[in-house]
Amino acid sequence: MNRIAIAGATGSIGKLIVEEAENKDLDVVALSRSTGADLLTGEGLREKLTDVDAVIDASQVGDPTADDPVSPILRGAQNLLDAAGSAKVGRLVMLSINGVQDAGLQNFPFYDARARQEKLVLDSGLTSTIVRSSQWFEFALNPAAVSVADHEVTSQDWYIQPAAAASVARYLVEAALGEHGDGVVTVCGPDAMRLPALTEAVLAHRDDARPVEIQEPPLAGLGDGTLLAPAGADLVGPTLDQWLDDLR
Ligand SMILES: NC(=O)c1ccc[n+]([C@@H]2O[C@H](COP(=O)([O-])OP(=O)(O)OC[C@H]3O[C@@H](n4cnc5c(N)ncnc54)[C@H](OP(=O)(O)O)[C@@H]3O)[C@@H](O)[C@H]2O)c1
Repeated sequence: MNRIAIAGATGSIGKLIVEEAENKDLDVVALSRSTGADLLTGEGLREKLTDVDAVIDASQVGDPTADDPVSPILRGAQNLLDAAGSAKVGRLVMLSINGVQDAGLQNFPFYDARARQEKLVLDSGLTSTIVRSSQWFEFALNPAAVSVADHEVTSQDWYIQPAAAASVARYLVEAALGEHGDGVVTVCGPDAMRLPALTEAVLAHRDDARPVEIQEPPLAGLGDGTLLAPAGADLVGPTLDQWLDDLR
């Protein structure tokens, strides 16, 4: 296997996946609107997947906080699956989120979208690996759960087991190489923590003295341990302290 396509290659994790794949001397094909491939319309996908051995879908089609995040995600996913099937791509790796398997969390429209995308992948007949990732350390200031104002930051009290996005990127490339098998796998960080504590640690690292207000999450499952690593999950370093040290 030497040719890998990355949907969402210009995004925050996509860039790290590209870097990881290039470090492994893989030939990278970037799929994003800015590189001439549109998941929503399907434009450019089939051509770019010619002679590709594996594709990683790490895209974010549409706004995850919109009232309906589901339709664009599913349309983009189906277009990619159709093009990958037609190009006879050997493996599709989908980046999903740990927790989307929980019925309660499917009341969160973005998680519902990813759960339904997983089903599209599993029903597609393509050889596939679904990688459910925990939140990343970079989630510390994610607008899905954290709002930043001039004099304070409000962080929802999610209970998570975050990993470095770079470690998840490495895991996705390994998955594309077939190292994590077929079906569904989960990758999480080494330690459980409350999101407000993560937000506080990242602000402190930036010498940002704004206080962090703790807010109840909109769904109980976000704060009750549902998002922690399930049995059998692969745990990847670094720890939060090591990750912060590396940012210096
Ligand atoms: N944040 C976390 O802690 C976390 C944890 C676990 C899983 N995840 C998953 O990771 C996903 C990716 O996150 P991210 O932060 O890397 O997203 P991001 O920075 O917003 O990147 C989105 C990528 O998708 C591409 N894209 C958007 N619309 C497209 C379209 N119509 N056609 C082709 N490409 C399109 C964008 O490129 P163009 O704009 O150039 O098209 C960009 O490369 C999330 O959606 C989430 O499901 C996140």
